[in-house]
Amino acid sequence: MITKQRKLPSGFGAHSTADDVLAGVDLTGATALVTGGYSGLGLETTRALARAGARVIVPARRPDIAGEALRGTPGVEVGALDLGDLESVRAFSDRFLDTGRTLDIVINGAGVMACPETRVGPGWEAHFAINHLGHFALVGRLRPALAPGARVVAVASSGHFLSDIRWQDPHFRTGYDRWLAYAQSKTANALFALHLDRLGADTGVRAYAVHPGSILTPLQRHIPREEWYARGWVTPDGEPADGFKTPRQGAATAVWAATSPLLDAHGGAYCQDCDIAEAATTDDMLLGGVKPWATDPHAASRLWDLSSELTGVNAF
Ligand SMILES: NC(=O)c1ccc[n+]([C@@H]2O[C@H](COP(=O)([O-])OP(=O)(O)OC[C@H]3O[C@@H](n4cnc5c(N)ncnc54)[C@H](OP(=O)(O)O)[C@@H]3O)[C@@H](O)[C@H]2O)c1
Repeated sequence: MITKQRKLPSGFGAHSTADDVLAGVDLTGATALVTGGYSGLGLETTRALARAGARVIVPARRPDIAGEALRGTPGVEVGALDLGDLESVRAFSDRFLDTGRTLDIVINGAGVMACPETRVGPGWEAHFAINHLGHFALVGRLRPALAPGARVVAVASSGHFLSDIRWQDPHFRTGYDRWLAYAQSKTANALFALHLDRLGADTGVRAYAVHPGSILTPLQRHIPREEWYARGWVTPDGEPADGFKTPRQGAATAVWAATSPLLDAHGGAYCQDCDIAEAATTDDMLLGGVKPWATDPHAASRLWDLSSELTGVNAF
């Protein structure tokens, strides 16, 4: 059964932080994996999960930088992983599986946004490859380690407003546009969670997609400063604009989706502001909500098949 995109309500909101949603939650004995867990929202996600008692595995494209960022955070382990390299995904996963440990929470937080045209692996477009296909392969390869009742959270974005999956040309062989490339990958994140939840239902593995909000982090590194002003992301004195969140607030929805019992019966939901998101009624990404192409079960199944074919991973 497909979850309705309707607010619960959860009692939390846009201003809640990751610590707010974890207040009174004891994650002692739980193991979480957070891709990108050493920068921006992922760093705050890792810290909050660790404060709640979880052991947190942080796969990192730059393990030395990750180690620095997480110095002093107890219960965290860093491992090498480049999501744009399927061999690296395989090696990371094999190393983890060899430990015999299980995972209770997986948060797919790593991502790139609005990069100049970049090709990885066999010529794949980098947003689709890193943000979606790398995570698809990672979760598939880690499938044997997912504990019964494990939750997988795909960090999507209201950036998905700009594009459905480009079925005829997902790798932008023609007409590359950095925002459409990001948008497609974020639609893919939402569809991934939708179909994973359906496939995982037998084993109790649940999956959710989240839009974290708008937050100034290193994610915007490819956008020239003038464009930040032109897009209204910052005030004239360089402060985050109204409606932007802090990184701790930005980490809250993923942490909530990974832990809230209120979501037990709502697998596959697309969430924002620590609640299930409503269908988008405008094109205002700051308001958010979810567009129909990101909750289409047929598209989710089709994308799953395409991703299996491309990565050679089909574990569910
Ligand atoms: N910030 C926002 O306003 C916003 C809004 C909506 C959605 N999101 C989503 O939230 C997630 C986190 O974003 P953020 O703002 O926290 O960005 P961020 O600070 O730039 O963090 C992104 C992380 O992804 C990692 N990463 C990038 N390419 C990778 C690769 N090939 N292999 C492994 N790791 C890789 C980065 O590692 P390196 O530092 O080593 O490159 C970094 O740790 C992203 O999925 C983004 O799309 C963010």
